[in-house]
Amino acid sequence: MSYPYQFKSLDEYKVAYKKSTEDPSGFWSQVAENFLWRKKWDKTLQWNFTEPSVKWFEGGKLNITENCIDRHLEELGDKPAMIWEPNNPEDRVRVVTYNRLHKRVCQFAQVLKNNGVKKGDRVCIYMGMVPELAYAVLGCARIGAIHSVIFGGFSAQSIADRLEDASAEYIVTCDGAYRGEKIIPLKDVIDDALIGNKTVKRVIVYTRTRTPVSMIKGRDVWWEDEMEHAESQIEKDNVVSFPAVEMDAEDPLFILYTSGSTGKPKGVVHTIGGYMVFTAYSFVNVFQYQKSQVHFCTADIGWITGHSYIVYGPLAAGGTSVMFEGIPTWPDAGRFWDIVDRHKVNILYTAPTAIRSLMGFGLKPLEGKDLSSLKVLGTVGEPINEEAWHWYDENIGKGKCPIVDTWWQTETGGILISNMAGITPAKPTYATLPLPGVEPLLVDENGVEVKGNPASGNLCIRAPWPSILRTTYGDHDRCRQTYFSAYPNLYFTGDGALRDEEGNYRITGRVDDVLNVSGHRIGTAEVENAINMHSGVVESAVVGYHHDVKGQGIYAYVIFQGTHGDETSRRNDILQTVSRIIGPIAKPDKIQFVAALPKTRSGKIMRRILRKIAEGETSNLGDTTTLLDPTVVEAIAGGKL
Ligand code: WT7
Repeated sequence: MSYPYQFKSLDEYKVAYKKSTEDPSGFWSQVAENFLWRKKWDKTLQWNFTEPSVKWFEGGKLNITENCIDRHLEELGDKPAMIWEPNNPEDRVRVVTYNRLHKRVCQFAQVLKNNGVKKGDRVCIYMGMVPELAYAVLGCARIGAIHSVIFGGFSAQSIADRLEDASAEYIVTCDGAYRGEKIIPLKDVIDDALIGNKTVKRVIVYTRTRTPVSMIKGRDVWWEDEMEHAESQIEKDNVVSFPAVEMDAEDPLFILYTSGSTGKPKGVVHTIGGYMVFTAYSFVNVFQYQKSQVHFCTADIGWITGHSYIVYGPLAAGGTSVMFEGIPTWPDAGRFWDIVDRHKVNILYTAPTAIRSLMGFGLKPLEGKDLSSLKVLGTVGEPINEEAWHWYDENIGKGKCPIVDTWWQTETGGILISNMAGITPAKPTYATLPLPGVEPLLVDENGVEVKGNPASGNLCIRAPWPSILRTTYGDHDRCRQTYFSAYPNLYFTGDGALRDEEGNYRITGRVDDVLNVSGHRIGTAEVENAINMHSGVVESAVVGYHHDVKGQGIYAYVIFQGTHGDETSRRNDILQTVSRIIGPIAKPDKIQFVAALPKTRSGKIMRRILRKIAEGETSNLGDTTTLLDPTVVEAIAGGKL
C-alpha cells in the first residue's frame, strides 16, 4: 500500500493546502476514498460553530477496525502491527503481526459480547501499556462500544468521577502495571473507585504483575479465561473471526477526559469517520511515513497522543507501531536509545519534557547505541525550548533527521500545526505551518482578527477539520461554552501564539488556567479543589511556574488553619490529599503557606501577582492598586506567614 494522499514535496503540500481551504469537501472526500467503507457517505461536511454541530462523511458506514486491521491482512498479515517492548529489557519482546492482532481483537470483541456489552455502551479501560490494552481499545471499536481510557496515574476518585460522568457499566483493567521498579496496583485502585458505585456490571482483569487482587463473584472476571472461552466459540477451521459491527461515520468512537479551566475534567468525544481519516492522513504526512517503517511514539495510550499515534493512525496506515511498557530512565537513561537500536526505529515521537530529562544525563547513555535507523524525530505536548531542540537534533538525529514540532490537543484528535518531515522547513521552537484542512488565525482580546505578519494573539481555527471534537460527553453546552463562545464562529484553542514574517506559528502556551506539567494537562481549579478537600485548608490558589524539566511546575499558596502537625507533615498531608483526589501527577511541586491571598475588591484572586512571585520576580509585581489589601502581597513575596 502506498499513500495516494501523501504529499512528497513542498509544492505538493502547497497544492494540497490550497485545495483543502477552497474546497474542503472535495479535498477530504478524495482522501476518504482511500479507506474501507461499507457504504459511502452522502454528504462530506455539514457544520456550524454556533451550536456547534459538525458532521463529516454523514451517511457513511464503516468499522474502524476493518480499516486498521482486516483490510491489511492479505498484504501485511505476517508483518508486525505492533512491537511491544516490556518494562524489563530482559523480558521477552512481543511482536504482534496483523494476523495476530486480528485474532486477538476478534476474541476480545466476543469477550465483550459475552459480558453483555453492546453498541454504544461505555467501557472504561484502566491498564498499563501492554498489547492487551490495544486489543481492548480495538475490541470495543469492533463491536461499536465507546472506549474511555484512563491514564494509570489517576486516582480512584478520578476514576469514580469519570465512570459516573460516562455512566460506564464495564471496566477492563490489569492486576497491576510495571513502571520501572514500581508496580502500580491497578485493580486495587479500581476496587476503591467502585466503592458505592451501582452502575458497573463487569470488570475484566488481565494478569500482568500477579499482584494479589480481590475478585468479586458476579462482577470480576479474568481476561485469560474469557479469551479462551471466546476463542472456542468463534474458531472455525483454525480461523478466529468476529464480524465487525457496522457503524455510522458520526457514531462516537471514544471519550477521553481532559482538564480545562474549571474544576471538573470533561469527556472529549471523537467520532469514527473523521477521526480515522485525519489520524491516518496526519500520520502519513507529518512523519512522511513510508511503508514498513518502524514508528515509536513514547506516549501512554491513556493520552490522546497514544490513541492517535500509537494505535489508530499507524494501524490505519498499515504501519508498525512500537509500544513501550516502561519508563525512559529505567534501568538507565539509555532506555529509549536502546529501543531505537534494537527495533531499528525509524521515527521517534516524544515529548520535550522527556528530552530535557534525558539531556540531564549527558551523553554517556548514548554510548554504544546505534541510532542510524532514525529518519524522523518528533515532539509533542508543550513548547520545546531551543536548547532541547538542538540537543535532540545533534545527539539523537545526528543533524540528519528532520524534527517535527507537532502542535495539537485532545480536542483536535490529530496534529493541526507542524512542519512536515523533510517537506516543509523546520524552525526551532516553531510548530510552523498548518496541515491541509486547518485554517489557524490569531485574535486579540476583543476577538478581532490580527492580520498581517508578524503577529501575536490567541490561537483560533476558522473551520472544522475531520477530527475536531464533536461534543463533551453528556454536556453539549459545556463544549459550546468552552470552545465556541469566546469568539463567535471560531474554535478557540486556549493557546496563545506568535506568527513570524513567513507565517510560521509558535505556540507560547495556555492563556487560560490550564497548566502543562511534563506534557500533562492539569487545571489549576482542579488542583485547588483537591487541596481544599484537606480538613486543615481554608483556601488555596494554584499557579504554574517555569520548571527546567517539566516545562511547568505546580505552585500552591495555601491558607492553613488546622493545628495538627508541623509544616512538613502538613505539606505531606496536602500532597497525599491531592494524590487521592486526582492522582500523583497533580501533586504540587511547591507549597507555600500564607496568611491571606491577594484579592481584588470584588474578591477575585489576583493570579497574575501570584505567578510573578512563584517565578521569583518579586521586584516587579506590576499594578497592585486594585488590591483590597496590598500588604498581603508583601507578606507572601517576603515569604512571611
Ligand atoms: C495542549 C494540549 C496533543 C497531544 C498532547 C497534549 C500544548 C501541545 C504542543 C507543541 C507547544 C503544545 C498546548 C495545547 N501543546 N503540543 N508542539 N508546542 N505546545 O494534548 O493534553 O490535550 O494538551 O498542549 O498548550 O493546548 P493535551
